[in-house]
Amino acid sequence: MKKIKVDLGERAYDILISAGITNSPIKELNDILGERKILTVTDTNVSEIYKLHISQIIDSEFSIFQAGEENKTLETMGKIYHDAVCAGLNRKSVITGFGGGVSGDIAGFAASSYMRGIDFVQIPTTLLAMVDSSVGGKTGVDLPEGKNLVGAFWQPQIVIIDTHFLQTLPKREILCGLAEIVKYAVIMDSDFFDLLEQNVDKLINLDLEFYEKIIAKCCELKAYVVKEDEKENGLRAILNYGHTFGHAIEKEANYGEIQHGEGVSIGMSIAADLAVNVRYMQKEDAIRQENLLKQLGLPTSYSNFQPEKLFENMSSDKKKQDSKTRLILPSQIGIASLLDYITKEDIISAIRGRKN
Ligand code: NAD
Ligand code: GLY
Repeated sequence: MKKIKVDLGERAYDILISAGITNSPIKELNDILGERKILTVTDTNVSEIYKLHISQIIDSEFSIFQAGEENKTLETMGKIYHDAVCAGLNRKSVITGFGGGVSGDIAGFAASSYMRGIDFVQIPTTLLAMVDSSVGGKTGVDLPEGKNLVGAFWQPQIVIIDTHFLQTLPKREILCGLAEIVKYAVIMDSDFFDLLEQNVDKLINLDLEFYEKIIAKCCELKAYVVKEDEKENGLRAILNYGHTFGHAIEKEANYGEIQHGEGVSIGMSIAADLAVNVRYMQKEDAIRQENLLKQLGLPTSYSNFQPEKLFENMSSDKKKQDSKTRLILPSQIGIASLLDYITKEDIISAIRGRKN
């Protein structure tokens, strides 16, 4: 088993990673839960496959919502609060987020606000949630006006990662997680990028032993960033590499046809081109990123959208501050920074360059 600490002083917590860790009682989890009342928030898909499995190690009531990003809403929050009251949760109780990023984000936000905040546990079941959303305390829901517009920073007490859950995850969802994994390597760790390049077959064939290693690496990298900048006043913004373009594409696709990780993959491709065009990064590094994304089976271009419309969507992204477009761009594999001097023309030109 791998154990990673997210060192946030009195809000510090551990991430436990192991294949099959949820097959038997987990002492570290039980020490936290004790005899307290627990509500497990999960979606219909995860519940159908794993409700019985998780019930064997956590004595919990359940709040189950219809799977899908379109249900990461205030309406679903209302149902969770209702289920929490019906289950008799009080200020000492615990909410568990069991599922992908949607379950974790919404469960965490419910925990942050129910009775002014109760304890929270994350048990991610998608690759994206294992390497990204379950760590770092960002919680929230979408509004009709945009994604993740309401939420709170609310750190979990513990994160339990069982790579066995990946065995039932649709291939497309695995790919979405892989986009975030490539992201960590490009922005923070060139050795990690080398490792990914050298093990594409293990990534494609879902070698769980290898996944345990790379999930742990991503969690370590994220734990470092979150420790340095929990509330995203600086460094944490690098985790948004590819995301500003990605969100613009997802929005244009009405959050359906193109999934988050696919948007991020195309977004990283646009961002790398832009970095090359403004002479911030060598072309060879952009080619390495492109090759890795393609070998994994991730998209690096789009066809249906107008570049100018994508730029407009970027301008309404909530990560934008004042009138400047701030972008995370890599200067080489393993290093990225937030730049605020890139012109609109350069951005549109890079977006245009990735249209099929
Ligand atoms: P998701 O939670 O919708 O899960 C994707 C699909 O996989 C769903 O249909 C789900 O039911 C299904 N699923 C989950 N686990 C499964 C399993 N083991 N086997 C079979 N099916 C399974 O989506 P996601 O991609 O995990 O997360 C995306 C969300 O995460 C977005 O809302 C995004 O905003 C959020 N996010 C949050 C953060 C953060 O820091 N909080 C970071 C990145 C993304
Ligand atoms: N996924 C971006 C963050 O956690 O900050």
